[in-house]
Amino acid sequence: MAALKDRSLLTLLDFTSDEIRTLVDLGLTVKAERGRGERPRRLEGYSIALLFEKRSTRTRSAFETAFGEEGGHASFLSTQDVHLGTKEDIQDTARVLGRMFDCIQFRGFKQSYVKALADHAGVPVYNGLTDDYHPTQVLADLMTLAESRGSDARGLAGSRMAYVGDGRNNVARSLAIGCGKLGVGFAIGAPERLQPSADEIASLAALAEEHGTTFAVTDDPEKAVDGADAVYTDVWASMGEEELLADRKPILEPFRVTSALMKSTGSSNAIFLHCLPAQKGNEVTEEVFESSASRVFDQAENRKHSIKALILATLGLQ
Ligand code: CP
Ligand code: NVA
Repeated sequence: MAALKDRSLLTLLDFTSDEIRTLVDLGLTVKAERGRGERPRRLEGYSIALLFEKRSTRTRSAFETAFGEEGGHASFLSTQDVHLGTKEDIQDTARVLGRMFDCIQFRGFKQSYVKALADHAGVPVYNGLTDDYHPTQVLADLMTLAESRGSDARGLAGSRMAYVGDGRNNVARSLAIGCGKLGVGFAIGAPERLQPSADEIASLAALAEEHGTTFAVTDDPEKAVDGADAVYTDVWASMGEEELLADRKPILEPFRVTSALMKSTGSSNAIFLHCLPAQKGNEVTEEVFESSASRVFDQAENRKHSIKALILATLGLQ
């Protein structure tokens, strides 16, 4: 795990397949430790800055509890509280925080911001969601898929995930990368307007091929989920684009995850995943959300374990 020390996670493109597998497996390990009642204090004397431009329930709570329960200190700094891009440029904020904290989490709009933080802070920076990517979410998702199969990260190769809905958002893009790198077949079902660009489809297909798996995009939701071990969806309008929801709703309705769509997987063991928060009745029915196939709260809990794994590995403590 030495290779992960001092590294930032801005997108899963930054990490090799082996590094992603290491983090997923370490997430499973720290979860098991906690399940056994162990309370290691590996972060005693360490601190993290949590910068938030956008709202969060899970990501903020995961970073705060992961850090706190290991004896470390987390400082929540929202744009209401700190000079972030106003009155002080991001490079200076990065250099100041890097002198005080051992690592930094950023959630916000621009990927260029989190990149600038990482370029100037001199400590590991974690992308807790931008308009483009949500990589820590996908570590938890891969961990949840591995748990549901009773496997480790290596055992994910050959499985299949389908994502239906807004196919060009931060979660879909990050899943496509994470699944591709771990050999998980990934299919996006989305209306043409909400599919990744042709260039992006080509590069994600090449990444999947390089890792012995497939990446497909279709405007047919049933075709997307056919053969899937997991069906994933996310909100139809992400943070910052809420005003687009009304316009998108009519074209996204056929992509709602219903019991019938779950049946179209062809498997009674297929699981349902959602990063949350969910808008039940839009992207998923209440019935599927509450069904025994739903692993959404395992996913939410796994944010903490996988984030703890990321912090421990990048601070060189595991
Ligand atoms: N899934 C996720 O990132 O949730 P929050 O927006 O609550 O952090
Ligand atoms: N795509 C969603 C994910 C929320 C966790 C958003 O960006 O709002």
